[in-house]
Amino acid sequence: MFDQLKPQPADALLSLIKLYNADPRDTKIDLGVGVYRDETGGTPVFAAVKAAERRLIAEQDSKAYLGPEGDIGFVAAVRELALDGAVAPDRVVGLQTPGGTGALRLAIELVVRNLPDTTFWVGTPTWPVHMSILTGLGAKVRTYEHFDIRRQALNADALLAAAREAGRGDIFLLHGCCHNPTGADLAIEHWREVAQILSGNGAVPLIDLAYHGLGEGLDADAAGARHLLAAFPEALLAYSCDKNFGVYRERTGAVFAIAADAAAAEVAGSNLATIGRNNWSMPPDHGAAVARIILTDAGLRSQWHGELQGMQARLSQIRQQLAACGTTGDVDLSHIAGQRGMFATLPLSGAAIVALRERHGVYMAGSGRINIAGLAERDCDRFVAALADVAGL
Ligand code: LMR
Repeated sequence: MFDQLKPQPADALLSLIKLYNADPRDTKIDLGVGVYRDETGGTPVFAAVKAAERRLIAEQDSKAYLGPEGDIGFVAAVRELALDGAVAPDRVVGLQTPGGTGALRLAIELVVRNLPDTTFWVGTPTWPVHMSILTGLGAKVRTYEHFDIRRQALNADALLAAAREAGRGDIFLLHGCCHNPTGADLAIEHWREVAQILSGNGAVPLIDLAYHGLGEGLDADAAGARHLLAAFPEALLAYSCDKNFGVYRERTGAVFAIAADAAAAEVAGSNLATIGRNNWSMPPDHGAAVARIILTDAGLRSQWHGELQGMQARLSQIRQQLAACGTTGDVDLSHIAGQRGMFATLPLSGAAIVALRERHGVYMAGSGRINIAGLAERDCDRFVAALADVAGL
């Protein structure tokens, strides 16, 4: 049986981790997978997470199943963190999921199973797993250019044209903030315009909010998504806590369906629960229990928020430092300051990306995406010089 299988290419982003680890140079720089790093290159556990974990270990009296919805207190706390009352809670049903990927999988599978002819609109480039979940489920996908790589800016004309073309019941996927892989977010005016056009068409938004708090702050990062979601009778939201709580390997996220009323929300929830049951039965508990403890305790919440703000400040600082270098080699870095979150996508050829790795030990995705958090302040000049060295390749 297995002889019939075709080998699958390894996930390009995850393969970079192995390549980087195997490189013996102590000057190497990891700008690959989207994990926050501090100035020393470490990804420490948040102090608020450690404190919540201690409380969890001391107080948890059972590990019996919680059910397909997972930790209901976590789901309610994340709903408020994301939406802050923008949508009446009885219209929102949520389920805990294994990370944001699990949330996306449930949201997309819910649509494809029930309405297989639905068209999904996706701005490119996007996180590769968006595409692989969609194509893996056989969904119909239409793409438009989200990012103009030459101008290093959001292609708002293409976004608005796609929104105008989206039909009734089409799903319009948007990154809530900190666009992965470009950092080019919608300004609030774009959110308003897209909301108006899509709600006029009867299209349904699916928002992927995976970097909440890493752009400009919790409220500013969610402002566009909240405005948009408030304008629709139906919408889907995939939320990840992996980055903003730094609990990556704990796989912590939630999916929310916003329905016209409480009865419809309940039916949507039962469908999501059934799909979750058939995929992973029940979500892993630990990360969600920790996030719930933090979000429902004023002291831990404020400690966590301070740590999150520290991450956001470091990302902004590195963005300013890179942008101040202006044009280096073939790359104008000045736009990086106006982009948000962990990522930027640079206009580099495949040959330049390989040369950066081989000559300079700079590891980045083959798409030209860099993880800003992978740069320490002291590495910026070396990175900029390496970009100049590979110019023209
Ligand atoms: C990334 O884009 O690097 C992260 O979201 C990690 C992942 O799973 O790809």
